[in-house]
This record gives sequence, C-alpha cells and structure tokens, in this order.
Amino acid sequence: MSSSQPSGRLGILLPGLGAVGSTLIAGVLAARNGLGSPIGSLSQLGRVDPGDGQQRPIRELVDLASLDDIVFGGWDPITPNALEAARTSGVLGAEHLDALSGELEGIVPMDAVFDRAWVSRLDGVRVKSTGGHWASAEALIDDIARFHAEHAVDRVVMVWCGSTEAFSEPCEIHDNLAAFEAALRADDPRVAPSQIYAYAALQSDVPVANGSPNLMLDLPCMVELAESRGVPIAGRDFKTGQTLMKTILAPGLRARMLGIRGWYSTNILGNRDGYVLDDPANFRTKELSKLGVLESILEPDVHPDLYGELDHVVRINYYPPRGDDKEGWDNIDIFGWLGYPMQIKVDFLCRDSILAAPIALDLALFLDLAHRNGSAGVQDWLGFYLKAPQTADDSAPDHDLFHQLGALEAQLLEWRVG
Ligand SMILES: NC(=O)c1ccc[n+]([C@@H]2O[C@H](COP(=O)([O-])OP(=O)(O)OC[C@H]3O[C@@H](n4cnc5c(N)ncnc54)[C@H](O)[C@@H]3O)[C@@H](O)[C@H]2O)c1
Repeated sequence: MSSSQPSGRLGILLPGLGAVGSTLIAGVLAARNGLGSPIGSLSQLGRVDPGDGQQRPIRELVDLASLDDIVFGGWDPITPNALEAARTSGVLGAEHLDALSGELEGIVPMDAVFDRAWVSRLDGVRVKSTGGHWASAEALIDDIARFHAEHAVDRVVMVWCGSTEAFSEPCEIHDNLAAFEAALRADDPRVAPSQIYAYAALQSDVPVANGSPNLMLDLPCMVELAESRGVPIAGRDFKTGQTLMKTILAPGLRARMLGIRGWYSTNILGNRDGYVLDDPANFRTKELSKLGVLESILEPDVHPDLYGELDHVVRINYYPPRGDDKEGWDNIDIFGWLGYPMQIKVDFLCRDSILAAPIALDLALFLDLAHRNGSAGVQDWLGFYLKAPQTADDSAPDHDLFHQLGALEAQLLEWRVG
C-alpha cells in the first residue's frame, strides 16, 4: 500500500502541441468545466476489484492527481497556442472550442528544439537558436525550471506528443550516459531532438512518456539516467486505432486456435502526422513500431502450423481530405478446421487523436503516481498503452491487451491506499 499523496499542482509538459496535444488539453479543460466526459481514460473511468468482489474506481483506489490540479505547457516549432493547434488539427468542434477558447489561447508553447534533418516535412519557425545540442539541453532544463516556478507546480511530467522523427538505430553514443553527454557536447548529428528533450527532462527529475515511435527513451543512456535519478519512464508510441484492434483481435483468434495466413493493414489519414509519415524515412520508424505486435501475441515458434507462414503488411497513405478521421482497413486471412480458409475485414473509421488523448492523460497521471511511489526506470506495467512497449530487462514485450491490463491493475493494487 502507498501513502504518497499528491499535493499541489501537476505540470504536464508536451513537446509537440499538434492534434494529440491540443485534443488532450482541450479534453481535460472540457471535463473540468463539465463540457464532456473523459471517455477512454482508465484513470478517470476504470474500476478494479481489489479482491473483495467490489469494483472500485481507480481514482479512489490510488492517489492520482486530480484533473483540477493539472497545468499544461509545452514546446512546438509551429503552433502559436493550443487554440490554434486545436483549430488547425480539426479534431474538436466549435461546441467545445468556443467555450474554452480563452483558456486554450493562453497556453503558448515555448520555442522548440527542432531540426529539419529529423522531420523534413515541417518548417519550424518557433525554434531555439542556441547553437548546439548541449546548449539546447540546457535551454530546455531552464524552460522546465521556469515553468515550475511561473505556474507554481509541485511536480512535472513530460509526454512527447511531437512528430515522428526519421528512422534511426541505437549506436555507440547511446551506450551509456557518459557517451551520450559527449555526443551532446560534440553536436553529434546522430542525436535526435526527442533525445535532447528526454535528457533535459530526466536531468530535471521529470518522468517521461514517449507517445511517438521515436528512438527517444529505449536507449541504455536514458535508462541509466532515469534509474540513477529515480525517475520513471515509459515508451513508445500510443496504441490507438489499428494496433489497438490488432491486439484485441489476435489474442481471441489465438485463444480459439484458429490459423492466420496473412494480415494486411492499410490506413488513410490526412492530418499533419500523416503528412510527416508520408516521408519514407519517417514511415520506417512507424512501420517497425506497428509490425512487432502479432509475432509476440501469436508466437509462431510455439504454433508453426497456425502462424508460421503469416504475411504481415502495414501501409499508411497520406490522404488530405480525411483529416484526423483516419480509416484503417484490415484484411485478415484466417483458416480453420481442416485448413479451410476464411476472411475477416475490419474497417475502423476512427478519430486518431480522440483515441490518443486519454492515453496521454493516463500515462502522465500514472507516471506521476509511480514517481511518488519511488518507482524508477522503465515501467513495464504501462505497456497497455503502447504499440512497442519498452521493457525493463529488454525482454520481448507482451502485446496481448488483456495480459497488459492485468499487469497494469496488479501494479495499481500494489499502490492502493485505504
Ligand atoms: N494521432 C494519434 O492517434 C497517434 C497515435 C499514435 C502515435 N501518435 C504519434 O504522436 C505524435 C503526435 O501525433 P499528432 O497526430 O499530434 O501529430 P501532429 O503533427 O498534429 O503534431 C505534432 C506536433 O509536433 C511538433 N513538433 C515536431 N517536432 C518537434 C520538436 N522537435 N519539438 C517540439 N514539437 C515538435 C509539430 O510542429 C506538430 O505541431 C506523432 O509522433 C504520432 O506518430 C499519434
């Protein structure tokens, strides 16, 4: 049991104030003002049975920060304020935005640490001109300290809601903290902006979640820094539309011992995220994050006759007329009794950021809870929310949504109060 109660206000800092960031902020303000319900958020609506047969609200079972005590801030190279971001992304309608316009307009992102080499499709104008990685990290550390003081917050967490960066792989500069700091000082081009944010946050004792597929936290240097400072981290990539469906359907098909020969997934989306992902280097980062889930759920090694021949293909197509209302098609070629083939077609007309915003909120609140309970480093139990969950011991993650929910609930019960 825990007794670490939240006191004062919680700052949530978002690198990236685009569709997800602005939908998160507007949604929390709307819920606070009685204009809507935080549907999709386990922290706000979920219930758990602590073992006495009574389902209790998670909000009462553990010491979570209240929505009333949240203060938002962030960084963005383009967005002038949260209202403009919400209007540009077109996720929420006037019925929500008009009532919140004053508050949203007052949330002005700080100048970003941004480099077009990593997001070629965007032309950042609100960018720090610090001259080098090390100075950029120091500038972000200063930003965090100033935010703390100006908004009189008690604690801060960071959730990366920025664009997907170009694909990159871990290399020797990520092997340990000393090597990473040397790379920062040397202005090494292999250091991505998201890594500079992660470094600055962890140095400021700020827990970090990574909502994108970027190589940001799952690096030995970041794990070392998080553990040494006693700060929790969770990544990567919010598990929203198609991958959410995949991790719901695949465990069911496997449970029935039905075979799968192929799973073809394609998406059309027309928001800025889709535009960024239209660049093959950025799509590669996303593709790898999406491809991993089936193998871990189906375990073709254990059932080669059912899943050994599976072709898994993922496509994303940028199609501007669709805006944020993504459409994800799945064609699943399955087979049953005596090998007879069947097909399943899923057409999910989803609203990407409507699914992502509650995930971002839960990650922020649960990381804050973990921090107050002294849990440092990778938080495996938050894999429920992520497409490519990072694990503390680098083992393959469990992608089965229902196993993940069980792990999350078990951890919350460890920290229950009363
Ligand atoms: N929309 C979803 O449901 C969803 C689901 C899973 C993952 N994601 C990921 O979440 C991230 C955000 O998605 P979105 O739909 O809000 O995209 P978006 O394009 O609307 O917003 C991203 C914002 O990040 C900003 N940005 C880019 N580089 C930055 C930097 N270095 N520092 C600060 N800000 C920076 C951009 O200017 C933009 O405003 C993407 O990486 C996306 O792949 C989104």
